[in-house]
Amino acid sequence: GGFRILRWTWRLTWVSAVAGLAYVGYGIYETRNPVDQPPPDPTKKTLVVLGTGWGSVSLLKKLDTENYNVIVVSPRNYFLFTPLLPSCTVGTIEHRSIMEPIRNFLRHKKAAVKYYEAEATKIDYEKRIVYVNDESPIKGDVSQTQVSFDMLVVGVGAENATFGIPGVREHGLFLKEVGDAQAIRNRIMDCCETATFKDQSEEERQRLLHMVVVGGGPTGVEFAGELQDFFHSDLKKWIPEIQEKFHVTLVEALPNVLPMFSKQLIDYTEKTFKEETIDIRTKTMVKNVTDKYIEAESTGPDGKKQLERIPYGLLVWATGNALRPLVKDLINQIPAQKDSRRGLAVNEYLVVKGTENVWAVGDCAVANYAPTAQVAAQEGAFLARMFNQMAKSEEIETKLTELSEVQEKAPNAEARNKAFEEIKDLQKRLRRMKGVNPFEYSHQGSLAYIGSEKAVADISWFSGNIASGGTITYFFWRSAYLSMCFSTRNRILVLMDWVKAKVFGRDVSRV
Ligand code: FAD
Ligand code: NAI
Repeated sequence: GGFRILRWTWRLTWVSAVAGLAYVGYGIYETRNPVDQPPPDPTKKTLVVLGTGWGSVSLLKKLDTENYNVIVVSPRNYFLFTPLLPSCTVGTIEHRSIMEPIRNFLRHKKAAVKYYEAEATKIDYEKRIVYVNDESPIKGDVSQTQVSFDMLVVGVGAENATFGIPGVREHGLFLKEVGDAQAIRNRIMDCCETATFKDQSEEERQRLLHMVVVGGGPTGVEFAGELQDFFHSDLKKWIPEIQEKFHVTLVEALPNVLPMFSKQLIDYTEKTFKEETIDIRTKTMVKNVTDKYIEAESTGPDGKKQLERIPYGLLVWATGNALRPLVKDLINQIPAQKDSRRGLAVNEYLVVKGTENVWAVGDCAVANYAPTAQVAAQEGAFLARMFNQMAKSEEIETKLTELSEVQEKAPNAEARNKAFEEIKDLQKRLRRMKGVNPFEYSHQGSLAYIGSEKAVADISWFSGNIASGGTITYFFWRSAYLSMCFSTRNRILVLMDWVKAKVFGRDVSRV
C-alpha cells in the first residue's frame, strides 16, 4: 500500500512539474508571438496620449483600446521604472533592466494603438491639434507634423528645476532619465581615473574626488546612498589610492533632508549618513555653479549667513520639478488656468480646468498630491476605468436611440412592451454607469533607500502609520520594488543584476 502511494505521489509531482513548465512556456510563447490586432478604428473617437511615463502607461495598461482610435506620442519609446534609476548610476542595476519597450507592450493590447516617437511641441486647444516633431538623430523627409484629437491626455511629466541658478545646466548632471544615469556613472569613473593621473596635485585630487549632491529630497538622498555604497564595496577595493580623498556631500537648503518623511526617519537617515561618512550640509543654499566649484550660502546656528566656495569633481543636481514649456504654453491658452504655477490645474475627474476634452496625469498635473510615481499610476488607472465606462455608456446610448425607434414603429402592443422593458433595463444600467466616483488617491506609503543596505519607510497600514528604518526595511524595499517592476522580464533582469553585483562587484569601466 505504502509503495503505491509513493508511486502516485511521484507521478503527481511529475505531472505538476510538466504542467508548470508548459504554463511558463506558453506564457513566454505568447509574449514572443503576439496575435493579430484589429487596426485602430478611425470612426471611433481619437484619443491622443502624450508621454510614456508612469501616468500615461498605467492608463494604456488598463484601457480597452478597441473603444477608441488611440494614438501615443512620446520621444521615449520605452517605459522607465524610475524608483530604481539611482541604482543605475553606479551599476547596481543595468539601465536596460528597468526599461520596458512601449512597442512590445502596445503590441499586446486587444486593438492596435498607433505610436509616434516624437515630442509634442505645441497643443492647439481651440483647433484640437497637437504639433509633433521627430527630435531623434535620424530624420526622414517629414520630421514635423500634426495630430488631431477628440480627447487628449497630457502625461508629459516635468523638467528638472534649476531656479535659474547660473551654471547648473552647463556643469551639473541631473537624475531623471536613463541618459542622466549613464552620464553620472561615466563621470564618477572619469573623476576617479583623472584623480589618479600621474603628477596630479593633492588639492586637485581632493577636488576631483569630491562628489556633491544638491537637493536633499529622496532623489538626492538615494543617489548619495548608492554612491557611498559603490565606494565602500567596490571603488576603494580596485583603486586604493582614492580611499583617503573620496568624499560625498549632500547639500540641502532647508533645515533637514527628506521633508516628506516623519521626524523619526529623518533623524535615522541623518544618523546613517553620518556613519557612512556622507556629509550633510543643511541650511545651505547653492547660488552659483562654475566648472570647478559651487558657491553656496549657509546659515549658521547664530543665524549668520556665510558665502563659501565648495570645489567638486561630480555635481548631481536634484532640486525637484519644473514645468515643461509645452505645459506652460497650454496654461497660457486657457483663461481658467491663469493662476496655475506648478502644473495644469485639474478637477476631481482629472479634467484640465477650463476644458472638456483634455485630461492631465502625473507630474504635469496639480491635484494636491506630491509629484510621485504612485500618484501618477493611480491617476492613469483611474482615467482608463473612466474612459472604458464612457465608451460603454455611449454604446448604450446608441442602443437606446435604436430601441426607441423600434418602440415607435412596433406593430403591436406586445412588441412595444418588449422594447419598453429593454429600454428600462438599459436606462438603469446607464444610470449606474454614469455615477463614476471622482478620483481619490490612496497613499500606500513612502519608501527610500539610504545606502549601506538600509532603507526608510513610512507605510500606511489600515488606518495607522508604520515608520521603520534599517536592514529589514531594506529587504522590504527590495521586494516591494521588485514586485512593482513593469514586467516579469524586468523583475528577472533586476534580480540577476543584484546577484551579479553581489558576486562579482559593480563594473568600474568607463564607456
Ligand atoms: P514621467 O514618468 O516623467 O513621464 C513623462 C513622459 O513624457 C516621458 O515618457 C517623456 O519622454 C514624455 N515627454 C516629455 N516631454 C514630452 C513632450 N513634449 N511630448 C510628448 N511626450 C513627452 N516616485 C515614487 O512614487 N516612488 C519612487 O521611489 C520614486 N523614485 C524616483 C526616483 C528618481 C530618480 C526620479 C527622478 C523620480 C522618482 N519618483 C518616484 C518620481 C516619479 O518618477 C515621477 O513622479 C513620475 O515619473 C511621474 O510620472 P509622469 O507620467 O507624470 O512623468
Ligand atoms: P524634491 O522636490 O523632493 O527635493 C528637492 C530638494 O532640493 C528640496 O528639499 C529643496 O529644499 C532642495 N533645494 C532646492 N533648491 C536648492 C538649492 N539651491 N540649494 C540646495 N538645496 C536646494 O525633489 P526630488 O528629490 O527630485 O523628488 C521629486 C519628486 O519625486 C518628489 O515628489 C519625490 O517624492 C519623488 N521621488 C520619490 C522617491 C521615493 O519615494 N523614494 C525617490 C525620488 C523621487
